[in-house]
Amino acid sequence: MEATSNESPWGLAGRRVVLTGALGEIGQVIAAAFRSAGAHVLLTDLPDASEAAEAVTASGFTQHEYAACDIASADDVRALFDRAWEVFGGPADIVCVHAGVVGSHPTVDYPVEAFDELMAVNLRGSFLVASEAARRWLAVEAAGILIFTTSWVQDVPWPEIGPYSASKAAVRSLMRTFARELAPRGIRSNAVAPGIVGVGMARRQWDSDPAYRSRAQRAIPLGRLQTPESVADAVLFLASPLSAYMTGATLLVDGGASLYPMDE
Ligand SMILES: NC(=O)c1ccc[n+]([C@@H]2O[C@H](COP(=O)([O-])OP(=O)(O)OC[C@H]3O[C@@H](n4cnc5c(N)ncnc54)[C@H](O)[C@@H]3O)[C@@H](O)[C@H]2O)c1
Repeated sequence: MEATSNESPWGLAGRRVVLTGALGEIGQVIAAAFRSAGAHVLLTDLPDASEAAEAVTASGFTQHEYAACDIASADDVRALFDRAWEVFGGPADIVCVHAGVVGSHPTVDYPVEAFDELMAVNLRGSFLVASEAARRWLAVEAAGILIFTTSWVQDVPWPEIGPYSASKAAVRSLMRTFARELAPRGIRSNAVAPGIVGVGMARRQWDSDPAYRSRAQRAIPLGRLQTPESVADAVLFLASPLSAYMTGATLLVDGGASLYPMDE
């Protein structure tokens, strides 16, 4: 969708957004979409500011709009929200809990260290970011918005990524708990569940693993890989007043991938 801050349909002009995983391939597109809608975005990702400088400026942002944060670290996450307060002059309005990692091994052979590392980012990291955001909102009675990125495999046993699927199912559960607990305080919590996107982690596996590629080619009823723009559209919808009556919901945007078993 092409939009400028003047004609944006999203009603997000001037809204203050924290986006984790902002240097990732889908994250960059979400960041650009928020900026096109007139929102102010604080980008955050793992690399320190100097390592990230090139990617940040290539995306059209300034270094002031980037903060490094390992979301698995509670100290880093606290520092991130201190920085957001400084940059925005108050709390963020919208927090996108988007960063994530994947690993690929048959579940019975999945190395336990890799399992722990994946859960530390996808589950612990999502919990740390969302709970820190919520505490800041509760302290000033602000009606914030949490948007998690899960995945269509939250409900589907796609081969070799069992712990990833489990982490996304757990994040979805967490999202619903935040929604239930925080609704009386005016805070909304929802998730976007993308399908098989033609960039980022799925693309890397598509390019490097012929078995994955052949499975994925059969798995999408709409017959084409998902664009990152379709993920960004769903995130902006959940950030916007158009979704004001939604909380605890998962917006499945997967080209129908979850509709039938992919290996037949
Ligand atoms: N690509 C897909 O097909 C697809 C499908 C469904 C869901 N998703 C989800 O979308 C999100 C983005 O995925 P992507 O495909 O763009 O992958 P990506 O690898 O391009 O981006 C992920 C980003 O998360 C960051 N990150 C990793 N560990 C971190 C940590 N500890 N702290 C802070 N940041 C960290 C990485 O540095 C990276 O920039 C993930 O949550 C992923 O699970 C992707």
